[in-house]
Amino acid sequence: MQKVLEVKDIHTYYGYSYILQGISADVDKGHVMAILGRNGVGKTTLIRSILGLTPARQGQVVFKGTDITQFQPHRIARAGIGLVPQGRRVFQALTVRENLTVAAMDRRQGWTLDRVYSYFPVLKERESQRAGSLSGGEQEMLAIARAMRCEPDLLLMDEPSEGLSPLLVKELAKTILQLKAKGLSILLVEQKLPFALGVADSVCVMSKGRIVYQSTPEELRQNEAIKSQYLGVLT
Ligand SMILES: Nc1ncnc2c1ncn2[C@@H]1O[C@H](COP(=O)(O)OP(=O)(O)OP(=O)(O)O)[C@@H](O)[C@H]1O
Ligand SMILES: [Mg+2]
Repeated sequence: MQKVLEVKDIHTYYGYSYILQGISADVDKGHVMAILGRNGVGKTTLIRSILGLTPARQGQVVFKGTDITQFQPHRIARAGIGLVPQGRRVFQALTVRENLTVAAMDRRQGWTLDRVYSYFPVLKERESQRAGSLSGGEQEMLAIARAMRCEPDLLLMDEPSEGLSPLLVKELAKTILQLKAKGLSILLVEQKLPFALGVADSVCVMSKGRIVYQSTPEELRQNEAIKSQYLGVLT
């Protein structure tokens, strides 16, 4: 299996705070890898280290065979890593169309405005509305669509289901599976276990800056001890 992303024993700090204490994880081409863990275990910090926003002080991040650990964030984005940030962070005062235009890069894989709209018809309907007037679910779709306009090979999604109703979480799962079917590789950070298990090909559980468990979704589903210890699932 070809690896799109290889995270090799990375150690990341904020000043003197030692957050990622030796994380290793891979994303296979065309697969969804889910990272699960409670609040504050370092999930967003892992994403920040992959993107070069808070670079690892030790260890390596390898993307499509190139060591990008010390690359600047803009260079990493251009290399083909997209982000759907925690809390969505769409440009509230801009229209849907403007959000999808400011983010666009080149045309490597042809994520034109029309193609994006064909995946997310609701965004076409709302294209002249301010992003701030959209519902949470629509803003999530906009954040994903915006990331696709940068033509990523790998998408990093930071708790995309946060704050969405169960119905919208189902829609989100469908969208993720559709993008995966098109060959996109995805690293999905989540706290909602059933949602993550439903879309992932492999899962890692994080606790206190380390990966404490790694398996298939099916194995984790059946591992009551891991679920109750690290994910707060009542058994
Ligand atoms: N900019 C920062 N400066 C200092 N410490 C930080 C900073 N950002 C996060 N931290 C700390 O790093 C640790 C990991 O935070 P991180 O945001 O990576 O967790 P998380 O798993 O994404 O949590 P959540 O599920 O709440 O989003 C936490 O203890 C947090 O307080
Ligand atoms: Mg986070």
